Amino acid sequence: MAQQEDVFKKIVSHCKEYGFVFPSSDIYDGLAAVYDYGQNGVELKNNIKQYWWQSMVLLHENIVGIDAAIFMHPTTWKASGHVDAFNDPLIDNRDSKKRYRADVLIEEQMAKYEDKIQKEIEKAQKRFGDSFDEAKFRATNERVLENQQKYDDLHRRFHDVMNAEGGIDLDGLKQIILDEGIVCPISGTRNWTDVRQFNLMFKTEMGSTADGASTIYLRPETAQGIFVNYLNVQKTGRMKLPFGIAQIGKAFRNEIVARQFIFRMREFEQMEMQFFIQPGTELDWFQKWKAYRMKWHQNLGFGAENYRFHDHDKLAHYANAATDIEFRMPFGFKEVEGIHSRTNFDLSQHAKYSGKKIEYFDPETNESYTPYVIETSIGVDRMFLSIMCHSYEEQQLPDGQTRTVLHLPAALAPVKLAVFPLTKKDGMPEKAQEIINELRFHFNCKYEEKDQIGKRYRRMDAIGCPYCVTVDQQTLEDNTVTLRDRDTMEQKRVHISELRGIIEDKVSITSLLKKLL
Ligand code: GAP
Repeated sequence: MAQQEDVFKKIVSHCKEYGFVFPSSDIYDGLAAVYDYGQNGVELKNNIKQYWWQSMVLLHENIVGIDAAIFMHPTTWKASGHVDAFNDPLIDNRDSKKRYRADVLIEEQMAKYEDKIQKEIEKAQKRFGDSFDEAKFRATNERVLENQQKYDDLHRRFHDVMNAEGGIDLDGLKQIILDEGIVCPISGTRNWTDVRQFNLMFKTEMGSTADGASTIYLRPETAQGIFVNYLNVQKTGRMKLPFGIAQIGKAFRNEIVARQFIFRMREFEQMEMQFFIQPGTELDWFQKWKAYRMKWHQNLGFGAENYRFHDHDKLAHYANAATDIEFRMPFGFKEVEGIHSRTNFDLSQHAKYSGKKIEYFDPETNESYTPYVIETSIGVDRMFLSIMCHSYEEQQLPDGQTRTVLHLPAALAPVKLAVFPLTKKDGMPEKAQEIINELRFHFNCKYEEKDQIGKRYRRMDAIGCPYCVTVDQQTLEDNTVTLRDRDTMEQKRVHISELRGIIEDKVSITSLLKKLL
């Protein structure tokens, strides 16, 4: 566990050192849970967004995109339920004056029991080696059984208070914290306030006070921009059910527990798609979208064992199926994407609050109805983090050196090809520039002439550049260069005219998309 935490810390510093992610307003010591993407980060992020957008809009004739405004009419959020119910249960420690999410404190306590069990298993595994039978050990070891019992009891109690009739049982949450003896990590005391609900939406004012300014919200999800445009798109695009609307954009949440770098941010980006369907077909479409979205993730080649579905057993009152796609981060399996069958809840609510009829006339059945919706919702930043975590490697080389390499999928890498002149003389820089001038129209290229070649390779490995080319004396004679592969470090001599053919297909988003069909 501690080792995984160290790896995660290294990834966070790597992101800063190599221009992927910086703390926001860094010169003022940052702003909590807000981050900026640097010169390499923005390229990787754009590639992720392109992979998603093209897999939705380009590969599906019945999905179109929109780009709705961040500010929306305030009634939107009344209708969607966010004003009344988009809350986190918070608790304060009176001694440290620190505020926590009560549910997270309890989840961390459950994780402690799981950790204890895991440690016992690891110890026994070392002791018994190949003859170790984990299932038998779990069923018989006293310390494991004791911690499992504590975990199960807590899990049951927690589930009951979170899903109490009429909403979360706030007193029940506090009682669990007291009964479990959970202390504030700062003050070490149990001097807790009552638990209160806290709305996560950021508010601001639109218009001057004299004009009668109104409170508006920074959208906490992009989905509502799609729902309120359902009629516009359906009519102007003459869309027939089933059809989808996709959108990529910023969302804002005043997260209280904002930790784990870009995993939980206050300003983040979502890629959401609402798929409008005939009522009664939703569970079938839910399964189809589940399968397609998992395929999209696994298509990156990170290994199926690093993903899992987490089906929700307790559903929101308007949903009739929901699942998360979780990815194995260094801090455990974590949600990257949610897939929800949201019935006709959102469209019906907007119809009610706006007074507009939001229906679809089905020419096949001659009926009008409010469409049902399957939603796929993924965070760009979480996706970015999962890719960084999986790609980062500190490799021990046979000569005893270590190299830090990002094994990014080539199609997502910020820079696809680096071109180096071996020396800064004899026309080598000019030849290298010539190669870049030819290839830059097809993929992102970078010119590097500083330091010796070995150091330049290391810098490119660290940003995940899949190919490097070196121009040397021989190039000037026969127009061949050495082409070096990031992952194998193998070098081969190729003619300059072959470069585009070798590289282009491997680094294009199209190469990923083709594998999805
Ligand atoms: N429209 C549905 C919706 O917003 P959600 O589960 O709250 O559902 C969807 O969010 C996805 O957005 C999550 O799976 C996650 O990837 C991303 N996300 C949510 N909150 C986030 C945050 N504070 N920071 C970064 N990403 C976040």
